[in-house]
Amino acid sequence: MTDYAKGLEGVIAAETRMSYIDGQKGILEYVGIPIGELASKGTFEETVFLLWNQRLPNRDELAEFARNMHAHTGLPAGMTNRLLALPMQAHPMHVMRTMISALSMHDEDPNNIELDAVRDKAMKILSRAPTIIAYFDRYRRGLPLIDPKPDLDFAHNFLYMLNGAEPTEAMARAFEICMITHADHGLNNSTFTARVIISTLSDIYSALTGAIGSLRGPLHGGANEGVMRMLWEIPTVDDVEPYILGKLERKEKVMGFGHRVYKAHDPRAAELKKLAGQLARDTGNEELYEKSTRIEQVMERAVGSRGIYANVDFYSATTYHCIGLKLDLFTPMFVLARLAGWSGHILEQLADNRLFRPKAAYVGPHDQPYTPIEQR
Ligand SMILES: CC(C)(COP(=O)(O)OP(=O)(O)OC[C@H]1O[C@@H](n2cnc3c(N)ncnc32)[C@H](O)[C@@H]1OP(=O)(O)O)[C@@H](O)C(=O)NCCC(=O)NCCS
Repeated sequence: MTDYAKGLEGVIAAETRMSYIDGQKGILEYVGIPIGELASKGTFEETVFLLWNQRLPNRDELAEFARNMHAHTGLPAGMTNRLLALPMQAHPMHVMRTMISALSMHDEDPNNIELDAVRDKAMKILSRAPTIIAYFDRYRRGLPLIDPKPDLDFAHNFLYMLNGAEPTEAMARAFEICMITHADHGLNNSTFTARVIISTLSDIYSALTGAIGSLRGPLHGGANEGVMRMLWEIPTVDDVEPYILGKLERKEKVMGFGHRVYKAHDPRAAELKKLAGQLARDTGNEELYEKSTRIEQVMERAVGSRGIYANVDFYSATTYHCIGLKLDLFTPMFVLARLAGWSGHILEQLADNRLFRPKAAYVGPHDQPYTPIEQR
């Protein structure tokens, strides 16, 4: 049998100047800046600028970039009606995939792949995505839609449109840190999907639509929902140990643990753990947080030596729950953040494109007779 890398494990398939990961040492940097530094000191707008320009903006550049991002939060005419025609019970990930794709039909020049045009489209899509998800959530809850406020930043505006009231500073900041930590992560499955699609010189809408489809899977962006279900399933903190050990004994996966690349602590989990603890205290969800830390202790004792630690999804579940987000909105939050990374990779791919076209090792038969249909 031909030797090949199943799941492309270990294969380097593209160059990037955006994020660097050292899975053995537990390092993640965006353009050389450790993720902990960005998460504790930066804003989401600044992070997007960094990823798309490979440098931090100065004060004027940041103001201009943020103004541009916040100016495009409104949906094009016709998009809201399209959204209000969707079935209320649709999963928000399917809504995201459909509506991001639909945006292409409201763009006069959707197929333009000149870098400046793509950058402009990326900005508009990133600005409109929170409006799409907030509108849909209010529509299905039977609540009036709340228009975006262009004077609010990305995090404040999204939570305002979703809840109808401006969030507390702690909540907006927690949400912003989730956005920063999820913005980019090397050539993960959905990012690879986006790059593969744009490498045919297709359009940014097609590439992002494909990426959302990839992210939806439970082995990728869907794990944070599984974490929350597990936390609800464990009755009390004292039940954590037997529950987790039972799962491991039955060889079941514990959601929110393990990673294809990180075999040390996931640096994003550390940032989110701090946030989750603070928010849990602020919102009366201490028990949820205590269950989480106990799960982490039990897992560390049981499988830490095998390099299986809490990943980004583990504490983002508690954080999103404390912010008041419904379970099926967890993965769409990942989309909001990762649109920044996907778009940056699309720009990188277009700037130095070569069509992705690997080969498959054929393992079927040869020289078979063609049997007439009546003899089969
Ligand atoms: C993310 C993930 C798919 C990466 O897996 P991978 O590199 O393909 O590794 P594998 O799934 O082959 O796992 C290797 C071993 O570790 C074990 N393992 C990995 N993650 C585990 C987990 N979360 N709980 C329990 N055991 C785990 C596997 O059972 C396997 O054990 P074995 O060698 O005895 O069969 C995997 O860790 C996982 O399914 N985690 C849970 C889902 C999740 O949180 N995904 C979000 C990632 S950010």
